[in-house]
Amino acid sequence: MSDLFAKEGTETGFAPSDADDFASCLTDLLHRKIIAEDDSLLELGAGFGHLMITAARARIPSYGIEYHPGLAARGRIDIRRQELFVPCKLVQGSYYLAEYIRLRQQGQTRAPFFEHGAFVDNPFSPRITTPFSDDLTDHVYHLEATIPDPYSLLGIGFHKFDVFFSYTWGIELPSILEQYARYAQEDAIFLNHSAFYPVEHKRMLKDIGLSCTVEGKMNGNPLLAYTKQTQPF
Ligand SMILES: C[S@@+](CC[C@H](N)C(=O)[O-])C[C@H]1O[C@@H](n2cnc3c(N)ncnc32)[C@H](O)[C@@H]1O
Repeated sequence: MSDLFAKEGTETGFAPSDADDFASCLTDLLHRKIIAEDDSLLELGAGFGHLMITAARARIPSYGIEYHPGLAARGRIDIRRQELFVPCKLVQGSYYLAEYIRLRQQGQTRAPFFEHGAFVDNPFSPRITTPFSDDLTDHVYHLEATIPDPYSLLGIGFHKFDVFFSYTWGIELPSILEQYARYAQEDAIFLNHSAFYPVEHKRMLKDIGLSCTVEGKMNGNPLLAYTKQTQPF
């Protein structure tokens, strides 16, 4: 990783997922027919696009939205260098839908958005409950929608994607999942790599109406697959 990325990483809280782990997880999910080759994948917070490239190499049409302009620009350069046989498109912007942000502002959403100082808990490893430390405070959250609408730039609406992938801090997870629960198509699947879970993860799942299974390992953390059990709203 170049110095440039080390610097950008510090500014954005960006820590890449392991591409080989992602490739293994995708191979397994394809093999088990949990996802299919022609499913389209949206990576929320795609960084410099290395997982999108990994997915596109597995012939999964891949799209990504990344807030940080430097990471997105670098990702686009890397993507152009690849010989890929399916779409692989990364745009800059916020993955939050304007409609979802509007609802939040009107107090009509349920998912909490935890502030620094909230407690986090990883239910899949020996119980650790840790306050957010200074290490995490340089992470920037973007609970906002951006113009131009990144989904227009991608040419595909949020509701059209079959598979979502994100790697977030636990802080952002509830709102991203709530957006998925409200706006994704019924049989879409949400894959999340996260080392951190809000303490209220289970209750949140119930509130939002999602079920969750462990489907693999990423960087030693669980890869979780969320699906819509029932129409929650
Ligand atoms: C932990 S990194 C994960 C990068 C990549 N997906 C991976 O797994 O290696 C999270 C990324 O999400 C981006 N991000 C945070 N909030 C965002 C938002 N609202 N819209 C788009 N990107 C966002 C950050 O800039 C960062 O690059």
